Amino acid sequence: MSTVYLDGSYLPKAEARVSVDDRGFLFSDGVYEVTAAYGGRLFRFEKHLERMRSGLAALRIDFDPSELRQIKEELLARNGLAEAEAAYVYVQVTRGAAPRSHAFPRVDATPTVYAFANRYERPERDRWEKGFRAITVPDMRWARVDIKAISLLPNVLAQQAAVDAGVDDAIYVRDGIAMEGAHNNLFAVFEGMVVTAPKSNYILHGISRDVVIGLAHDLGIPVEERSIPVGDLYQADEIFFTGTTTEVRPTVEVDGRRIGDGTVGPVSTRLFDAFLAATVSQGVEAASA
Ligand code: PDD
Repeated sequence: MSTVYLDGSYLPKAEARVSVDDRGFLFSDGVYEVTAAYGGRLFRFEKHLERMRSGLAALRIDFDPSELRQIKEELLARNGLAEAEAAYVYVQVTRGAAPRSHAFPRVDATPTVYAFANRYERPERDRWEKGFRAITVPDMRWARVDIKAISLLPNVLAQQAAVDAGVDDAIYVRDGIAMEGAHNNLFAVFEGMVVTAPKSNYILHGISRDVVIGLAHDLGIPVEERSIPVGDLYQADEIFFTGTTTEVRPTVEVDGRRIGDGTVGPVSTRLFDAFLAATVSQGVEAASA
């Protein structure tokens, strides 16, 4: 039985209870973060903290997340993950429990803080080297997906569409532009140039995205942050996703069309290897912060 954290206590998961008045339950009124830990060391913790702070501020939830490092480390330890090759910690903060009304509660609710840790199962290398497949789906999300809000219904539906299609990932398309995945950021490679959507309110500003851009710079691979029309995406030499629970994942087929020569390309492979090396050394934190 895993040990979770809820509002100041560590307890067996089965004993964790949240009020049915919780605004996370009633309105998806909250934010979350998923942070990786490699060999028990939190990866890019400060960046995740910073993003959570800005999400909390955007939603005007009064919670100081500075204590989260200690909570995440404690959860890793209590769940036997302090030495795990790869694990992740999920944390969500909601506005708290209050009688249901759309506007914020008149009397400040106490934010509900819930966290758990799990092992991360990286695909075997030979599976990774075969590449993965994706479909495109219309991006029907709201216009503030840069806030890592717990309201993920469009992401649930997009990922399920991928599952229903028998593929691994979904790519959101907004006004003809390939934006990002349902739970990861999207990159394409054109003639050696790595391209990804620019930061805006229409994508999540992924921490892994920044890490991979930094690694590309370190490796001398040119990067351009610009929109990718979906028609161009099909013509890319390589496509890959990045994310905390995706790392670097190569896509060799989109909407049934072969990407490049249909095999995992050299740029994806170099960046994945560099990413793995960074997770071990964690040196990229300092180098490309
Ligand atoms: N998802 N885009 C979306 C829509 C995401 O949900 C995520 C992360 C990312 C990648 O962000 P990062 O590199 O900071 O993990 C991009 C998390 C892992 C999740 O929902 O489980």
